[in-house]
Amino acid sequence: MPRTATIKKLRPQPEFPLDSHPEVSLDFSSVKQYLLKHPYKKPILLVDLEIVRGKTRRFRACLPRVRPHFAVKANPDPRVLKVLIQEGAGFEIASIAELDILMGLGVAPSEVFYSNPMKSRAYLEYASAKGVEWFVVDSDEEIRKVQSVKADAKMYLRIDVPNIGSDWPLAGKFGAHMNDVPDLIEAAVACKADLAGVTFHVGSQCLNPENWRVGMDRARKVFASMRAVGLRPRLLNLGGGYPVRHVKPIPSMETIAEVIHKELRHFGPEVQVIAEPGRYLVSDAGYFICRVVGTAMRNNQRWMYWDAGVFGGVIETTEGLRYNIYTERDGEPVAWNVAGPTCDSVDVVMRDELFPADLQEGDLIFIKNAGAYTTAYASTFNGFPLPDVATLGA
Ligand SMILES: Cc1ncc(COP(=O)(O)O)c(C=O)c1O
Repeated sequence: MPRTATIKKLRPQPEFPLDSHPEVSLDFSSVKQYLLKHPYKKPILLVDLEIVRGKTRRFRACLPRVRPHFAVKANPDPRVLKVLIQEGAGFEIASIAELDILMGLGVAPSEVFYSNPMKSRAYLEYASAKGVEWFVVDSDEEIRKVQSVKADAKMYLRIDVPNIGSDWPLAGKFGAHMNDVPDLIEAAVACKADLAGVTFHVGSQCLNPENWRVGMDRARKVFASMRAVGLRPRLLNLGGGYPVRHVKPIPSMETIAEVIHKELRHFGPEVQVIAEPGRYLVSDAGYFICRVVGTAMRNNQRWMYWDAGVFGGVIETTEGLRYNIYTERDGEPVAWNVAGPTCDSVDVVMRDELFPADLQEGDLIFIKNAGAYTTAYASTFNGFPLPDVATLGA
């Protein structure tokens, strides 16, 4: 018998306004002024702390019911974290090293959410001994692991949601599939775990507000299933993903907030609502500055080598994120391949990007809105130094 293909009806994707609100970024003239007083020595991220403050206030104004818990991984610099503390943010951590930084700044561990779905037993023991109360889970094994270390842990279930339209997708590695959720709820009940909430991540630099709507709709269904078996869900964690303006138009925070706000009416006052913005709070505040260490013509292709590449902080281009990048040359734009200074062939920042033809050894490179996921990623691979971080304001 001939088999008929199952045709899935795709829900039409709603249109959202783009660039409807102005964005505030660290301006180039402040960077130039800084360099006049502090001549360039090695790659450096210059962060304007007042912009971090402004972005935090804007997030809170857009979503008064949602407390931002900054994703420390985006930029763990203590000066940045201090501003976020002053602005009333909480935090989300991936490791106990991040917890230690926060405790060193006086943050109460009860304000810290441990949102890495895979935690070693030793890290769990350390975090719970220090007083962390909330732990994410997305598998039967992790529910049992957390429960065995801390019987009264409050757990929130990370569910899988679409990452369509995200420049740095995070789906696949983590997040329980909706088909598996009933079994996970059963496992929690069986081992008397306090499964008390839901989280999701729409993908980093997410340009599609619809992902939040779908995530919240799924969370609502999971809440109902939890209640049906006697669990008491009381945390909705909207994760990260709020985008910043690089080369493509973005839905403004206000547009995303409208979608979230509409869905929030399905969650009663007993539900604490948080989010985990990373990039949104810090990207616009920073310029990453590095320098051309050399150029080469190979097989008719122009190559330039920066003193910071994939291992030195400029890694997000490898998944397609595109920055606004400036130089002080004004030659004709031509295609260049850009690589970092290490001997590793993976260390290629981008290919066939347009830069002035007259760029040469010693020229500075200015990467705009690079306050997130640059210095945080950098390593000393091949013996190159970590970038510096300097701050303006506050
Ligand atoms: C669990 C979790 N929460 C929040 C974030 C922050 O995401 P973003 O910087 O896109 O807001 C991340 C980023 O990887 C994450 O893994």
